[in-house]
Amino acid sequence: MRIIKTVKTLRKRINLLSQSPIGFVPTMGALHEGHLSLVSYAVKQCPAVVVSIYVNPTQFNDREDLKNYPRTPVEDIGMLLSVMRKDDIVFLPSDKEIYPKVDKRIFSFGNLDNVMEALHRPGHFNGVAQVVSRLFDLVEPDIAYFGKKDYQQLAVIRELVCQTNRDITIVGLPTVREQDGLAMSSRNRRLKPKQRKNAAIIYKTLREAAEMIHKNDVPDVKAFVINSIEACEGFVVEYFEIADDKNLVPVSSRKDMTAESEYRLFIAVKIDQIRLIDNIEIHI
Ligand code: PAJ
Repeated sequence: MRIIKTVKTLRKRINLLSQSPIGFVPTMGALHEGHLSLVSYAVKQCPAVVVSIYVNPTQFNDREDLKNYPRTPVEDIGMLLSVMRKDDIVFLPSDKEIYPKVDKRIFSFGNLDNVMEALHRPGHFNGVAQVVSRLFDLVEPDIAYFGKKDYQQLAVIRELVCQTNRDITIVGLPTVREQDGLAMSSRNRRLKPKQRKNAAIIYKTLREAAEMIHKNDVPDVKAFVINSIEACEGFVVEYFEIADDKNLVPVSSRKDMTAESEYRLFIAVKIDQIRLIDNIEIHI
């Protein structure tokens, strides 16, 4: 595994790669089994894999969140060593390498800009699009891997690739969960023990809501989810939505749901200053 910190060295290495496809897994580090599942999948599919670790300031709408974001480069490299091969690349750039000058690009993603994460984290997806498009230009992957854990991000990336006519296949992979169902997240390690224990309620409630929707309408399901989760001390539901899995348009009634579309449940929960998101598919 080669650790590369500059764009110059990265480009040199990429130009030397003779085999394709090149697989790419962008991350912000503080790696866990969820990230490793993407890397392992990429290693299986691609003779050359690049993993980037870069905490991208432009996607943090909250300065405290950026400051508190866990940074564990030594542990990250240790974990990657267990799944990556000799010539695979870990790209660990500095801010200067990614943004030699201020990135002023503004992206538009239609409905994806107006729902859920986009509403609660203004500018977040613009920052994601800035960094991912820059990384795509540097790595020039054939296939890029993203987690369904961040489902709206995955939809934004698909749209970005489509809008910019890039020849990159985007692969979305399943959410890896802890034993109690909590979706793995770098932010979980900031939870206090009691909060961590209670956080299992999020996935449990999503599962219950997925059953409930068969016999109840959307407002009742919403009320159930909010009441169940907010019964835990300090837990606040930022949003809970039922939306289709393509355009992510939230529905307010079962009448709006059509047999032609697939739907998912989406949730964001704030526990003190820590924000957790999750989503699951449902069958109607
Ligand atoms: P980060 O949160 O580090 O996540 C990197 C990738 O790992 C994303 O595609 C994310 O969806 C995936 N991932 C996170 N938790 C997962 C889980 N429990 N199961 C499966 N996959 C999981 O997402 C970002 O970084 C950034 O926004 C980034 C795309 C790197 C741009 O800065």
